[in-house]
Amino acid sequence: MRVTAIPAVIVALAWAALAGEDPGAPGGASPAAEALRVFETKCIECHGPEVRKPKGGFGYVTDLVALAGDPALVVPGKPDKSEVYLRLVTEDPKERMPPAKAREGGLTPGQIEQVRRWIEAGALPPPPRGGATTGGHRHDEAPSGAARLGRWLGRFHPVVVHFPIALLLCAVLVELAGATLKRTGYDSIVTFCLVVGSVGAVASAGLGWLAAESEPTSGGTLLAHRWLGIASALVAVAAASWRVAAVRKSAPLGLGFRLLLASAALLTAVAGHFGAMLVHGTDHFAW
Ligand code: HEC
Repeated sequence: MRVTAIPAVIVALAWAALAGEDPGAPGGASPAAEALRVFETKCIECHGPEVRKPKGGFGYVTDLVALAGDPALVVPGKPDKSEVYLRLVTEDPKERMPPAKAREGGLTPGQIEQVRRWIEAGALPPPPRGGATTGGHRHDEAPSGAARLGRWLGRFHPVVVHFPIALLLCAVLVELAGATLKRTGYDSIVTFCLVVGSVGAVASAGLGWLAAESEPTSGGTLLAHRWLGIASALVAVAAASWRVAAVRKSAPLGLGFRLLLASAALLTAVAGHFGAMLVHGTDHFAW
């Protein structure tokens, strides 16, 4: 039973990392940087550039220039006339942002105040990132050859990723079929699917890491997708190694192995779901 605790621990760690995200900027940041931080953590899920069908008809909540340039959303200097602020303070639960179902939860009074201050101070764009705050050399230097190669390879992540998903699920299915039908001949298929699937999972995780490096996006979905993807690759490799070792020694494989195999498939499916949310938006299963 001990091995089955591994994926659970990894998922718990991923969520702990999510929950531990710093909710507000420390004092001293510019009003724009503070507001941007609030939008990036709390609004990007539905109004961010990666959402295919942004809610409320705007998907540029992280583009402060576009936001401030849309009088339907922001009236610089006048928070009480700015929809972006009014939606944070309205008493009407149907209007209030973020909606109750938002994954990152509501805003703290401090965060609402940060948005108000940004609008009141003229809704200016944030100072260019770089220098002290973030590693900002991204902007002014042409990407190096290695960076371009990484970005190019990263594009293959969505192509490659479907194979391990299918192969690991297939390994579970065939293992189940072999166990219930009590016929021979299934074992080598399971081994094949599992070994190829775990190699594919490692390749996908690596390519996914490269893809994420060249993405400007961030946030909870990417974080969950990244670590669940890595966890599924690790668990798949563990299951495949276990299986190959047992086959070599002609040792029997018990419940422990089956649970590990099922964890690998389950983690892969959940990681894939978060990946689909990155590509198709958070409500891609909505009716
Ligand atoms: C879980 C999804 C979700 C999150 C998170 C979310 N919104 Fe919304 N937002 C919506 C939906 C759905 C609508 C459209 C329905 C409506 O107008 O109430 C909307 C509409 C809006 C509108 C009105 C747009 C217009 O043109 O009238 C504003 C402004 C807005 N949101 C701001 C925000 C801000 C600021 C945040 C972050 C603090 C945020 N939203 C977070 C789902 C979300």
